[in-house]
Amino acid sequence: THQWRGVIEEYRDRLDIPANTPTITLGEGGTPMVHSDWLSGLTGAEVWLKVEGNNPTGSFKDRGMTVALSVAVGEGAKAVVCASTGNTSASMAAYAAKAGIKPLVLVPQGKIAAGKLAQAILHGAQVIMVRGNFDDCLRISRALAEDFPVALVNSVNPMRLEGQKTASFEIVDFLGAAPDVHVLPTGNAGNISAYWKGYKEYVESGDAASTPVMRGWQASGAAPLVLGAPVPDPETVASAIRIGNPASWDLAMAAAEESGGMFRKATDEQILAAQRELAARDGVFVEPASAAGVAGILIEHDEGADLHGKTVVVTVTGHGLKDIDTALSGFTDLVDTVVDADVSAAARAAGLD
Ligand code: F0G
Repeated sequence: THQWRGVIEEYRDRLDIPANTPTITLGEGGTPMVHSDWLSGLTGAEVWLKVEGNNPTGSFKDRGMTVALSVAVGEGAKAVVCASTGNTSASMAAYAAKAGIKPLVLVPQGKIAAGKLAQAILHGAQVIMVRGNFDDCLRISRALAEDFPVALVNSVNPMRLEGQKTASFEIVDFLGAAPDVHVLPTGNAGNISAYWKGYKEYVESGDAASTPVMRGWQASGAAPLVLGAPVPDPETVASAIRIGNPASWDLAMAAAEESGGMFRKATDEQILAAQRELAARDGVFVEPASAAGVAGILIEHDEGADLHGKTVVVTVTGHGLKDIDTALSGFTDLVDTVVDADVSAAARAAGLD
């Protein structure tokens, strides 16, 4: 009869939050670790997918949002604001609805996936479409939170990282040890910073003996952490990581450096190919940005990297249903076949007879 209680109740003693913080939860966290038979067979490593699309709003953002919203409400907030490429706004809107406070979201006009926009709207957010990119939206959101009574819940709010670090705890608990390598897509760079914090805390508390090498993958048209400088006009089909000036730049760089890892980039083509292969081979449908880490494993395998015998965890950050327009755009031929309503026509069309 035990039901997972969400990351605040499961991990309250490990979260650096005010003692009287209420719990606003949708049951986030506790997501599956799915063994990738495909990537393990290819690389000789044990590759596990941390499937964050299984969170309540379909992305890892829910881990951070339960904490950020709960703390904001505990401090008396009546409204919350965020800039978003889509998932943060979907998650914030859902948790604000649950809390009974007002969600205000700023998104780059025409650049967020339809599923994510639908979520924000249905959860009752006021959606402001900005003629600009994510980085513009974040600048404006920060200023609004300074001048008006709205709490900012982007990952510059440290409560977001507190919640997101719990994914590392779950991974170590599941594997019985930290993985050798952790791979994940990187945009605004909050998540890699949160994972690194979580892994380090588990070593400090004696729950893990080591930390993994952290490898962050960006889209080649939006790869400031690879280039070492902000990108003024980021562009990628992976709209979730279309970010030119990550807010958690320093924390993310520290995570890569301290862990012996690095940031690299994958092209849109490599990302989309990885998305399709992961869906077709492992049965896990992720959004394009979420496939950047999988693309990274394929790229390094092609380059001859030796992962033999290692344990590798790849965080796949968001659900494929969020952005079906992009998913289907790769298929020029119809994947379905239209037939008359009879058995022999179906058998013939399916090549069974
Ligand atoms: N994957 C997905 C599906 C995302 O939505 C994001 C970020 C990332 C990866 C990158 O994570 O920013 O912590 O490095 N999405 C934010 C948003 C920016 O607004 O939803 P990060």
